[in-house]
Amino acid sequence: MRIGLLQFNIAFGKKDRNFETVTHLIKNESADLWVFPELFNTGYLFTSQDEVENLSEDIPNGVTTEFLKKLSNENNCTIVAGLAEKDKNHFYNSAVVVKEGKVIGFYRKIHLFDNEKKWFAPGNLPFQVWDIGTAKIGVMICFDWIFPEATRTLALRGADIICHPSNLVLPFCQDAMVTRCIENRVFAITANRIGKEVRNGQELKFSGCSQITGCLGEIIHRAKAKEEQTFVCEIDPLLAKNKYITENNDIFNDRRIRMYE
Ligand code: ACM
Repeated sequence: MRIGLLQFNIAFGKKDRNFETVTHLIKNESADLWVFPELFNTGYLFTSQDEVENLSEDIPNGVTTEFLKKLSNENNCTIVAGLAEKDKNHFYNSAVVVKEGKVIGFYRKIHLFDNEKKWFAPGNLPFQVWDIGTAKIGVMICFDWIFPEATRTLALRGADIICHPSNLVLPFCQDAMVTRCIENRVFAITANRIGKEVRNGQELKFSGCSQITGCLGEIIHRAKAKEEQTFVCEIDPLLAKNKYITENNDIFNDRRIRMYE
């Protein structure tokens, strides 16, 4: 199975430009599964609720989901991509899963980071796993990484690959994902963005270094901090089914849940 990520500098509020960038970036590569960054269509640093409202969209009928359906159909692949979602009067930092022209699911970020709490409601849907034929995938978004429960829950529900759209600002995630993958024996695709946003006197720098982590914790690829990049590699997702540690230890069967309460 071929899995890939995109790392680029998202232009705030310029959806068409961001659509062009991702179309161009994946055009010469083929992958079964692509992960794009968090809020890949809008950018991150919102400055008012009106802005959030104007830029967020319905799933599955908004322009971004329509664009992703078409792109996944043309490229015969599954895409996991972050976007701001509008559901009646509620706004979520979400990610949609589209496979060959159809929406198969979406996730609403459960652990909101910093000022995201001003703009978005915390995710109200459970962690879910989708079977895309070549593997079972689960989705978490950026800051979810710091809660081991996120990856654990997805892994316990059968995810072989954690799709992890991100707009990282702290420097710890890439190293932490090594542990997340070792302790759950899963693959992870952390698709981060690069660049900085300066809006209304606020500034945020995004740390790049997008990463594909193998199910034994090996760093299959870590991108540079400041360069736009497309990366694709071949993996065997079946490796993630094997939770064996020794003849006498299995990561999941050895859990002593009663002792954790
Ligand atoms: C983050 O969760 N975007 C830092």
